[in-house]
Amino acid sequence: MAIERTFSIIKPDAVAKNVIGKIASRFESNGLKMVEMQLKQLTREEAEGFYAEHKERPFFGDLVEFMTSGPVVVQVLEGENAIALNRELMGATNPQEAAEGTIRRDFAQSIDANAVHGSDSPASAEREIAYFFGK
Ligand code: TYD
Ligand code: MG
Repeated sequence: MAIERTFSIIKPDAVAKNVIGKIASRFESNGLKMVEMQLKQLTREEAEGFYAEHKERPFFGDLVEFMTSGPVVVQVLEGENAIALNRELMGATNPQEAAEGTIRRDFAQSIDANAVHGSDSPASAEREIAYFFGK
C-alpha cells in the first residue's frame, strides 16, 4: 500500500473541549504521523474558500460561522493509506451515525459541530494541503 498524505482539521468544538491531544493520539496510535501542524484562527475568506464545494448547500453559512468561531488545528497526516484510514478513524459526518470508537462518535455532538475534517480523496487531499501549507 502507498504512503499518502492527507489533510486534517481539528475543528473549533474539539479545540474548545480541550481534546486536541486525545484526537492526535488516535492518529498516532493508528500509524498516522503529523508532518505539519498549526493552531490557527480561520478568517471568513479562508473558511469560505476551503468549503467552496458546499457553497450552494443550505448549511454553508452556518458551517463558515462555526469554522471561524474559534481556533482550529490544521494538519497534514502521513502514513499508509492515510486518506481512507483517516476517514475511517473520523467516522460518519453525523456523530449519531458514526461507528463506535471513531473520533466523531467519541468527541462530537452534532452534524454541524463534528470535531474533525479529513480529505475525502487524493484530489481533495492535494488541494487542501496546498490551500493551507503550499506545495
Ligand atoms: P461533508 O463534506 O458532507 O462531510 P465530511 O466532513 O464528513 O466530509 O460536509 C462538510 C461539513 O459540513 C460537515 O463536516 C459538517 C457540515 N454539514 C452540516 O452542517 N450539515 C449537513 O447536513 C452536512 C451534510 C454537512
Ligand atoms: Mg467532506
